[in-house]
Amino acid sequence: MVEKNLDFRSDTVTWPTPEMREAAFKAKVGDDVMGDDPTVNELERIAAEITGKEAGLFVTSGTMGNAVCVLAHTQRGDEIILEQRSHIFYNEVGGLAVMGQLMARTVPGELGWMKPEDIEKAIRPDNIHFPPTTLLCIENTHNSAGGIALTPKQMKADWDVAKKHGLGVHLDGARVFNASVALGVDVKELTKYADTVQICLSKGLSAPVGSVVVGPADLVKKARKYRKMLGGGMRQAGIIAAPGIIAMTKMVDRLKDDHDNARLLAEGLGKMGIKICNQVQTNMVYIDYTPIGWMDADWDKATKKLGWKSVGHGGGTRLCTHYGIEREDIKAFVDGLGKLVK
Ligand SMILES: Cc1ncc(COP(=O)(O)O)c(C=O)c1O
Repeated sequence: MVEKNLDFRSDTVTWPTPEMREAAFKAKVGDDVMGDDPTVNELERIAAEITGKEAGLFVTSGTMGNAVCVLAHTQRGDEIILEQRSHIFYNEVGGLAVMGQLMARTVPGELGWMKPEDIEKAIRPDNIHFPPTTLLCIENTHNSAGGIALTPKQMKADWDVAKKHGLGVHLDGARVFNASVALGVDVKELTKYADTVQICLSKGLSAPVGSVVVGPADLVKKARKYRKMLGGGMRQAGIIAAPGIIAMTKMVDRLKDDHDNARLLAEGLGKMGIKICNQVQTNMVYIDYTPIGWMDADWDKATKKLGWKSVGHGGGTRLCTHYGIEREDIKAFVDGLGKLVK
């Protein structure tokens, strides 16, 4: 029996499963900074194996995972290319400038995908006036584009142009398993088009905390050192890594339920006249309720009345489906909201 978690605000709100709590309780631990925590080592090994990479690194969050990878790939003063609404550029507190002293060159994407010709135009030629372009960052699924899954073909096109110009490629794969499930491809078909990948364990995969970074051993070794520099060297971290192992090995297939529930939700809301602003491919539905004459206060009041957490901003909001929300919960929400809208 899944504990209900009627909260649309994000997939970060997920609670650990009973099995994760049990695994945390029983986890074998050691000092991870000394490389002695067997559970962390196992999580890192599993993450590398599943994604087809040489090495893995457990980090505290997606933001830290992206930061240590970006730092590992670059030197102070480099320019890096990012999609203009990407999480690393938009939502990570300018860390690339503060920590890496990097220039950000943004490229607008089409549904989150930067076209290779646009990337190529943004790569600086060798010129005494220019900073060197050394890294391309891709996001899959792309959160602000609507949880869009970039295909292996799209990723390969970006990888090919980056490699033609000698750039590193980092994938912000916070939700890369959502992408692999939505596309019906092995996650390796996506991760192979990036040198380093950051994967969140604490979103749809429901672990309480943490991300893993994977990539070639030399880059992961550098990332490990940056993790220490940022204060992310943890000690008996097996306690939090144990749920991460369950996240990666047992929580991936159920993401399909989240995607089906998001589609069901979008269909129901659409029938009431609420505008669906994104292509619903994964676990996110972006809505605009101004067509039914609602303001944020109306939305907040209605969802609260129905027992859900959701917060409107500027006439719309993002609704995320996740573990703790089941099909009958979506049906009950749509039914209840339908009555309030009438
Ligand atoms: C695409 C993407 N990347 C990175 C992150 C950062 O993860 P964290 O909140 O664990 O720092 C998020 C968080 O929502 C995200 O959506």
